[in-house]
Amino acid sequence: MIKAGVIGYPVKHSLSPRIHNYWLKKYNIKGSYDAIEVHPDNLKGFLVSMIKNGFSGVNVTIPHKEKVLEILNNAADPFAKFIGAVNTIIIKDKNFICTNTDFIGFSRNVIEKEPEFDFSEGKAVVIGAGGAARAVIFALLSLNVPEIIIVNRTREKSEIIKTKAIKNFQVADKKILVAEWKNISEILKNASLLVNTTSLGMVGQNKLEIDLSNLPKTALVNDIVYNPLETKLLKTAKLRGNKVVDGLGMLLHQAAPGFEAWFGVRPEIDDNLRKFVLEGLVKK
Ligand code: ATR
Repeated sequence: MIKAGVIGYPVKHSLSPRIHNYWLKKYNIKGSYDAIEVHPDNLKGFLVSMIKNGFSGVNVTIPHKEKVLEILNNAADPFAKFIGAVNTIIIKDKNFICTNTDFIGFSRNVIEKEPEFDFSEGKAVVIGAGGAARAVIFALLSLNVPEIIIVNRTREKSEIIKTKAIKNFQVADKKILVAEWKNISEILKNASLLVNTTSLGMVGQNKLEIDLSNLPKTALVNDIVYNPLETKLLKTAKLRGNKVVDGLGMLLHQAAPGFEAWFGVRPEIDDNLRKFVLEGLVKK
């Protein structure tokens, strides 16, 4: 029986078991996917014993994503290294592969929901400079966005991403710009895409307060927050006529590559899965 799961501390908030068990059932696969609480002090021990314990791999969630990259750095691919975090571990022939599938989640979500959207058309504004922002920026670079403006409360973190992108991917200096948080409304002029990668707007967090009046009505707005599904940002954008994409699809699409690697089936993201995961959110 194929064995996988998600490690975190705590881990009960994770929606990954719901997603993977839905697929295991749908495809009638003899496998297991469990939520595994791993205390930070036991993380290294858990990783070392994974092969012996018959795991095909695991997803990694808070607070272990960065630490796994540190411990298994030799097994990390360039995506995990640029993003600075591992969310998926795959064991193949007793070897570890550590990756980060958030950039795939972001791109597939937007492409699926807005297939007509042309990433190469204009500039993208990315709010935030954490792990999620790095995943989104990597995706945008792969999708040939001509100009990316990063705006984050802590400016230095945006500068670090810019430097790393130039160094790791030979990105042209003028392709990534860094803006001040206080200028957030101003930089929306001429933007084709606006993405919130911070946790602002999520239930229990502060609101994301931005004035969208400079944003062209033709711009697409995406929030990676999925709880609530319609954040204030998306609601405001929609009301003024912008197209919007919510964050649920990113969560579902980032899960698919791990499932395929472990269980050998490329899973479909269907409406029943969306419904099932949303029901899980309500219960959390
Ligand atoms: P993740 O890996 O999910 O991206 P993270 O690395 O902790 O999480 O990043 C969180 C992001 O949300 C950061 O860009 C953070 O801004 P700072 O770099 O200034 O900390 C942003 N963020 C969180 N709370 C915020 C707040 N109250 N106002 C503005 N930005 C906030």
